[in-house]
Amino acid sequence: MTTPFPHRHLLGIEELSPQDITAILDHADTCVTLNRATRKKRDVLKGLTQINMFFESSTRTQASFELAGKRLGADVMNMSVKSSSVNKGETLIDTAMTLNAMHPDILVVRHGESGAVNLLAQKVNCAVINAGDGRREHPTQALLDALTIRRRKGRLHRLNVAICGDILHSRVARSNIHLLNKMENRVRVIGPPTLLPAGIERLGCEVFDDMRAGLEGCDVVMMLRLQQERMSGGFIPSHREYFHRYGLDEDKLSAAKDDVIVMHPGPMNRGVEIDSDLADDLNRSVIQEQVEMGVAVRMAVLEMLAQNVPEAMESA
Ligand code: CP
Repeated sequence: MTTPFPHRHLLGIEELSPQDITAILDHADTCVTLNRATRKKRDVLKGLTQINMFFESSTRTQASFELAGKRLGADVMNMSVKSSSVNKGETLIDTAMTLNAMHPDILVVRHGESGAVNLLAQKVNCAVINAGDGRREHPTQALLDALTIRRRKGRLHRLNVAICGDILHSRVARSNIHLLNKMENRVRVIGPPTLLPAGIERLGCEVFDDMRAGLEGCDVVMMLRLQQERMSGGFIPSHREYFHRYGLDEDKLSAAKDDVIVMHPGPMNRGVEIDSDLADDLNRSVIQEQVEMGVAVRMAVLEMLAQNVPEAMESA
């Protein structure tokens, strides 16, 4: 029996309550058990159609949404944006309306513009899941990060969590700040002033530009990728200098608690944001576990939204 979920879409963490977050994570925990079994298939989404539309590159999010839908029995189609009529100038909304006419039940969408997925959700009849929009939100990433933390630390409250690096361009940072605050944690962001958005403290976090000061006493350290594809100017002097000041290595990490865990949403720039050996140190790095939790969280989200699909379709 799946817990009722009072939302038609999943567009961001901002609109979720702590109870919604806990319900998704509790359900995702059961999906972890299923995913570790030899036979992983269920039929709770049998007869439903899921379309994945990724207008930006992805390995983890797209693959895990595809696996999640298939493990739950949905018919899953990955739209190939590169070979679609988007290349002939068709707009996002026209593309979405075209697919909507084929009666999907769930659309999973990643787009480079902040707010594009919300706009699309207003135009279609089905449930929409935001798989990352511009700099705004990446809700399933924050949920899989939360599941990883909860399983490792045994709780998801009263933890000191540092989010480090390119905060300016990061939808992962924004979704995590919302989620961790809702669950009553203490959030710090650490980065060079050029990569810290003005007013970020208004989201409810302390701001540091020194790694050792920011990591002092932390339970969790989340490193972020330098999003060079979104940078047009000189945000950092050089990769070497960036690693020296903001890259996570043993020395800087020693300021955190002894049982600190190290996270990274991927893809990583090894030797730029994080020391390569530290990224692979299974005593502290939970990066591979984050990937595993990604499938479980996406299964939970798909199943919880799918409960609301028949009513939505009848009234559409
Ligand atoms: N973390 C994340 O969103 O990775 P992908 O871009 O590979 O999906």
